[in-house]
Formats: sequence, structure tokens, C-alpha cells
Amino acid sequence: MAKRRRYLIISDIHANEEALSAVLRSVSRRRYEAIICLGDLIGYGASPNKVTERIRKLDNLKIIRGNHDKVMENEVYMSNFNNSAKIAVKWTKENLEKNNLEYIASLPKGPLEIEEGVIMCHGSPIDEDYYLFSEFDAYQVFERFNFNICFFGHTHYPCIFAQTEAGIVFKNLRGDYYEEVLKKDCRYLINPGSIGQPRDRNPLASFAEYYPETRRFVLRRIPYDINKAAQKILKAKLPENLAHRLRLGT
Ligand SMILES: [Fe+2]
Repeated sequence: MAKRRRYLIISDIHANEEALSAVLRSVSRRRYEAIICLGDLIGYGASPNKVTERIRKLDNLKIIRGNHDKVMENEVYMSNFNNSAKIAVKWTKENLEKNNLEYIASLPKGPLEIEEGVIMCHGSPIDEDYYLFSEFDAYQVFERFNFNICFFGHTHYPCIFAQTEAGIVFKNLRGDYYEEVLKKDCRYLINPGSIGQPRDRNPLASFAEYYPETRRFVLRRIPYDINKAAQKILKAKLPENLAHRLRLGT
């Protein structure tokens, strides 16, 4: 039987150790060609060291920085952050151990190629800070970049934009499980959702898998100890809304 390769795709962990651990536990028996991490390891959550250490230890990791990782290198990138995010940046910088801070600050900028025709980025291949929300945003990316599939993060909303003969088709990936065989004659922009701070009113951790030989894409949502992650945020005296939003998935 031909070898079936599989990628794990994770994004926007945001220093949420409980969510990351639950996801890694749920896939611990699976072998991956590579683990694709679309950035934002830290920011908002109270476990930046634990999360950074877990990520650093992963085998076959392909990783790029997110906007929250980027500000660890230089706070000048923080100008468009809201107040809670700014407080979290300051707290994270004070609490990250030196070697973890250096690791985060040295993460490469996307886009990166995963394999032929498949790329990864944080916000958009045009700009890592750019939010890909609309069909028009997707259209601009499809026009400017030559890829078949691009995995992106940043918005924390699991979704698919497909460029078809009939135009761009948007799919909001609702529910706790979704799978689709991607068509060979379409192009795709795919967001696996956020592990550590989902914003689509579903508080479960979100991640995805992709099988390049069969073009099968699978999105999963799994429960984790939200209370523990939220309590840690409150105990760290980070803004309270960062704890509450985990429970709400907003
Ligand atoms: Fe993020």
C-alpha cells in the first residue's frame, strides 16, 4: 500500500498550556510527516514558558512567527494591539525565560513552503499581520500568490476559502468535526482555527490534519481544562476578560 503522509496543523496557541496539552495528547499515537505551526505561541495566556518548551520539543516542526511572537522581538510592532493584548505582551516579556524569549524572537517570518504547492503563513501571505476575513481578502491572495493550498491562522476562525470555476466559495467550519476531500482543480486558503483562544463561540480547542496523497482535510475540536487555563490567567493578574473569553470562545 502506498505510504499515506499526514500533517498536523496547529495555530494560535496563545500560551494556553491546557489546550495545547489536550491536543498533543489526542494525537500522540499518530505519526506526522511534519507538524505545521502557524504562529502565535504566546500572548494572552499565562503559560508562555510551558507552551514554548512543548513546541520546541516537537519532532519535524515547521514553524513561523505570529504577530504576538513578533512583538517579543520588537515592541514597535505592537501599535495596533488592544489594551489587554498590550498588557499581556508586557507580562509575557517579563515572565518568559531568556532562552524561550530568544526562541520566540527568532522565529521565521512566513510565508513558508511546506511542500510543492502547499504554503503556510500567519495572517496572509501578503502580510503576516493582515486578517483574512472576506472573499475579497482571499481573492487578493489568490491573485498574487501561486499556491494550491495555503494554511493560515491569525483570525482564530476555522474556515475554508475555495477558488472554484464559479468564483470564491467561503465555508465557515462549524461543529466539532469536519472533513473534506479537496478538489484537484480548486485552490484553497484554509484556517485550522485556534488552539488556545477560539473566537467562533465554540470554546473547544481547534486543530487540523491534512493528507496530501488523498487531499483529505480534517478539522477537529476537542475539550480541555478551560477552568484551569482561566484560573491561571486570573492568578497571574492578567486582564480578567482574557480568562472569561476562553469560557465563551470569543
Ligand atoms: Fe492569534
